[in-house]
Amino acid sequence: MVQPEPGRTSLARAAALVAGARRGVAFTGAGISQESGIQTYRGQGGLWNTTSPRTSSIDFFLADPAAYWEVARERGTTLLAARPNAAHQALVELERRGNLAAVVTQNVDGLHLIAGSAAVIELHGNGREVVCLDCGNREPRSQVQGRLPEELPPRCPRCGGIHLKPAAVFFGEAMPVEATSRAFDLAGECDLMLVVGSSLAVYPAAQVPLVAHDAGAPLIILNAEPTPFDDLATVVLRGRAGELLPELTRAAAAAGGGS
Ligand code: APR
Ligand code: ZN
Repeated sequence: MVQPEPGRTSLARAAALVAGARRGVAFTGAGISQESGIQTYRGQGGLWNTTSPRTSSIDFFLADPAAYWEVARERGTTLLAARPNAAHQALVELERRGNLAAVVTQNVDGLHLIAGSAAVIELHGNGREVVCLDCGNREPRSQVQGRLPEELPPRCPRCGGIHLKPAAVFFGEAMPVEATSRAFDLAGECDLMLVVGSSLAVYPAAQVPLVAHDAGAPLIILNAEPTPFDDLATVVLRGRAGELLPELTRAAAAAGGGS
C-alpha cells in the first residue's frame, strides 16, 4: 500500500484546496451512504463479498425478474428508509458556499438530492424509481416494493408486463448519455476534484476523477480504505466520510473559503 508522504494526509492542506475552489466537483460512491445504513459493494462489509454482482446485471434480470426482486427487495427497503448523513449535508454546504459546482455520484439512493444538493449528476441512475421495460411506465419504488409480498415479480399496472426494473444502470446496460457527458465536461473544467467513498473500481465512472487530474485539477481522495488512484491525489484523507467531510467543511470555512 502506498503510504502518502506527510502533508499529503493533512486536513489543513485539503481545507485550503476546498476553500480556494470555485468550480469544484465532488465525485461520490457507496461509501458516502454507508453511514446512512446502505451497504457498500466492495471493501469491508461490501455486498459483493457475499452476493454475486451478476444479480445486478441486465441479463440476470431479464432471465428471471422474480429472482432479481428476491435479492433486490431487502436492498430496496433499506434504500427507501435511508436518510442523508452529515457527509451529504457537508456537500450541500460546500455547494452553498460556492466551492462546489456539482456532485457527480455513482449512487442510486438519491440521498444527495434529498439532502438538498442542487446540481447532482446521477451516473448510475436512481433506484427510487421503477420503469417498465415493456411499456415505459414509471412509478415510485415504494409503490412497487409495497406490492412485492403478494406480487413477485411485480407487474406493470399499465401493461401487465413483468419487466419492472429500478431506474438504475445495471451491469451490461449503457450509461445515461447526457449525465455522462456532463460529468466529463465538469471534470475537465473543475478546479478541484473531491472523491468521497468510492473504490474507483468501475468504469467509465472512475474515469471522471482521472479526467480532472489530467486537466490539472488537484485530487482529494477521502475513503475508508486505499484506492488505486491514491498516488495521484494531492491529499488522501483516510477515514469515515460522515466524520471527515464535516470536519473538512468546517476547516475550509475557517480558512476563508467561499462566499
Ligand atoms: N466513509 C468513507 N468511505 C467508506 C465508508 C465510510 N463510512 N464506508 C466504506 N467506505 C469505502 C470503502 O472502503 C470502499 O472503498 O467506500 C468505498 C465504496 O466502494 P464500492 O462499494 O465499490 O462503491 P462504488 O465505488 O460506489 O462502486 C461503484 O460499482 O457495483 C457497482 O454500480 C455499482 O455504483 C456502484 C459502482
Ligand atoms: Zn408496462
